[in-house]
Amino acid sequence: MKLLPIFLALFLVSPADAQSLDEMMQVGFFHALEEGTVVQGELSQGLPETLATDYLEREKFVPFDLFREAPRAPLAVQVFFNGEPVNARDMHKVFAEAFLAHIPGNTRITESLDAHGRAVWHYPLNTAVVHFVTLKNRDTSMSNIFELRIAKKVEDRRWAFGVYRPQDGQLRLQHYGGFLQNQFTVLPPEGKPIEVRLKHIPLNSCKNCHARTSAARYQYPSFEETGPCEFTPPNPHVRASWAPAFERAHGFSPFAQ
Ligand code: HEC
Repeated sequence: MKLLPIFLALFLVSPADAQSLDEMMQVGFFHALEEGTVVQGELSQGLPETLATDYLEREKFVPFDLFREAPRAPLAVQVFFNGEPVNARDMHKVFAEAFLAHIPGNTRITESLDAHGRAVWHYPLNTAVVHFVTLKNRDTSMSNIFELRIAKKVEDRRWAFGVYRPQDGQLRLQHYGGFLQNQFTVLPPEGKPIEVRLKHIPLNSCKNCHARTSAARYQYPSFEETGPCEFTPPNPHVRASWAPAFERAHGFSPFAQ
């Protein structure tokens, strides 16, 4: 019996580590994240209501590679293709994803070590990281942007989290509560059209999950300061390949040393 509170504590600290992606694609998983949630209005405060659809190209965001297999962020919840429930493995038939980051002109990410000798990054104000989710659709009459998820450092000690979706030729910041039901048809590069039905993930889950799944949770001294998940010091690809690619695109080095 004595073990039960320990087990519960572990579960509450890191449910995403303990669960498979298929479980994470269920509504119940997100209810487990809800405790202590900040309201979604506060979460996205500081982000513009609209972005141009070519925002990422225009600002020259540079993609970076992930370094872990798990935990992963679920793209949506309760997904059906042609009426059949879909598991995480088959999501790639319809969805593609990319991870990108940007820092403002002539600013730098600096690094210090914490008391345990772990690297901590200090990101300049307006650093933006993006989880870009698109549809593999050969029908280009509709926008193939599914979601642009963003975390942007809007204050000295706060990252705003938000989701943009295409609407009227722009990307619009979302304000729905709970799960957003959606249905659309995708014409994949090969094969027959796929009728997709799903729920978009709740907007208030972002920061809660990042606080638990970030590869560098230690660099956020409080829940309020939670930011990027894999655009963090433990990810070797950021310095090894993102930084040189960023320098080629922007003409300055994004790291101070
Ligand atoms: C269930 C956990 C979970 C939820 C919910 C979640 N994320 Fe993430 N997020 C992750 C993980 C893990 C990664 C690392 C990449 C991956 O595996 O997808 C990530 C990556 C990202 C990135 C790429 C940059 C980085 O390293 O952090 C952004 C931006 C992001 N998420 C924004 C959001 C936003 C906005 C929401 C809310 C709509 C959200 N996330 C919801 C777990 C989550």
